[in-house]
Amino acid sequence: MPNIRLDLSYSGIKEKEISEYEKEVSKIYKTLEENSKDEEQYVGWLKLPSNFNKKEFERIKKAAKRIRKNSEVFVVIGIGGSYLGARAVIESLTSNFANLMPQTIRKSPQIFFVGNSISPNYINELIDCIGDKDISINVISKSGTTTEPAIAFRIFREYLESKYGADEARDRIYVTTDKNKGALKQLADEEEYETFVIPDNVGGRFSVLTPVGLLPIAVAGINIDKLMEGAKTGEYNYSDSSIKYNQCYRYAVARNILYKKDKTIEILANYEPKLHYFIEWWKQLYGESEGKDHKGIFPAGVDLTTDLHSMGQYIQDGRRNIFETVINVEETKTDIKIKRDEDNIDGLNYLAGKTMDYVNKQAMQGTIEAHVDGEVPNIVINIKKLNEETIGELIYFFELACSISGNILGVNPFDQPGVEAYKTNMFKLLGKPGYKEK
Ligand code: PA5
Repeated sequence: MPNIRLDLSYSGIKEKEISEYEKEVSKIYKTLEENSKDEEQYVGWLKLPSNFNKKEFERIKKAAKRIRKNSEVFVVIGIGGSYLGARAVIESLTSNFANLMPQTIRKSPQIFFVGNSISPNYINELIDCIGDKDISINVISKSGTTTEPAIAFRIFREYLESKYGADEARDRIYVTTDKNKGALKQLADEEEYETFVIPDNVGGRFSVLTPVGLLPIAVAGINIDKLMEGAKTGEYNYSDSSIKYNQCYRYAVARNILYKKDKTIEILANYEPKLHYFIEWWKQLYGESEGKDHKGIFPAGVDLTTDLHSMGQYIQDGRRNIFETVINVEETKTDIKIKRDEDNIDGLNYLAGKTMDYVNKQAMQGTIEAHVDGEVPNIVINIKKLNEETIGELIYFFELACSISGNILGVNPFDQPGVEAYKTNMFKLLGKPGYKEK
């Protein structure tokens, strides 16, 4: 049984509509395969699970072991593709309350993410929270010049140097960046920080299975061998040229069929709070890859049942330009049986003997049916359980589907020209050399 099963029975899409895309999708996959051999193209992620740098992988594991031993806090500095993947995997696979538990139980440092905003409050409050705990940091930036992480790194580098002195600080700073270029690479070389390489042909939002994601994920105590194994299963399963069986192709095609029916917003829904950041990662992957040339499905996300009490009204009854994709985790990690209560004042005795997961699943089924009745087509992605293998496979599933979907849409899924506009304005306002006032 595959770890991921796609269910299109609530989407209103007919098999014939899907099969019409078979040739086009095969052609797109072949082009991706060819381009994955070209260092100039950003398709290095396609064969990464079966062909990654084993030496560097071992170095990541060693660094993670060292950090887990000598640090109570691990600060990860990065934004966008240099942030969301690591957080998505860590939050999916560790306790919701990991950072609040004693280290003796957690067995890993507390992990905090910074450099993903320009809020001074966030950094000041984090420094207050760290107090006299021992820390290490990992600054991640492919370009090595992104403003948000650059400011955060300047602050934390100084913090470490004044806390430990320059020599010990050097041993507590880990840099993940381009192999040759960028200000961060230059600084890392000058200061002799331990450095990990982001492959040239893997773009930021596709980089979670490179050192970008792998070092923080390993520091969190997650088995990165198993994560890569899961991704490799995905690489194998989703190279099947038959659109009838390839779940990944079917998802990519289904979303384009719905887009052509004016369903221009996709809401990815989870029923498991651990997946909140997985959805944030997915939003970036799809938003930055597809939203261009005035085209694209707008990627939104909801945590359910939580957001049924905030966004539920709109989804059920607002403008009918949305479809929903639900991630269903079939087996919960733990469960709670609802007990009988003598007084039954809350009227919940009808659930006595049932488990919370059972109630959650009925809520999901009821919501899918209600939304479909409300003209919101639903796609369901069933995954067996949350573990390294399934998350690795799901990452690969979404990356490949995104690239295929973007190609069907007629955009280049691997560039992001639109993100420069705000930077140009901001740099002019800040008086950065080379940027003139309007
Ligand atoms: O996907 C992308 O390319 C972006 O989201 C980048 O990851 C993000 O802008 C951070 O860039 P960098 O890693 O160069 O600091």
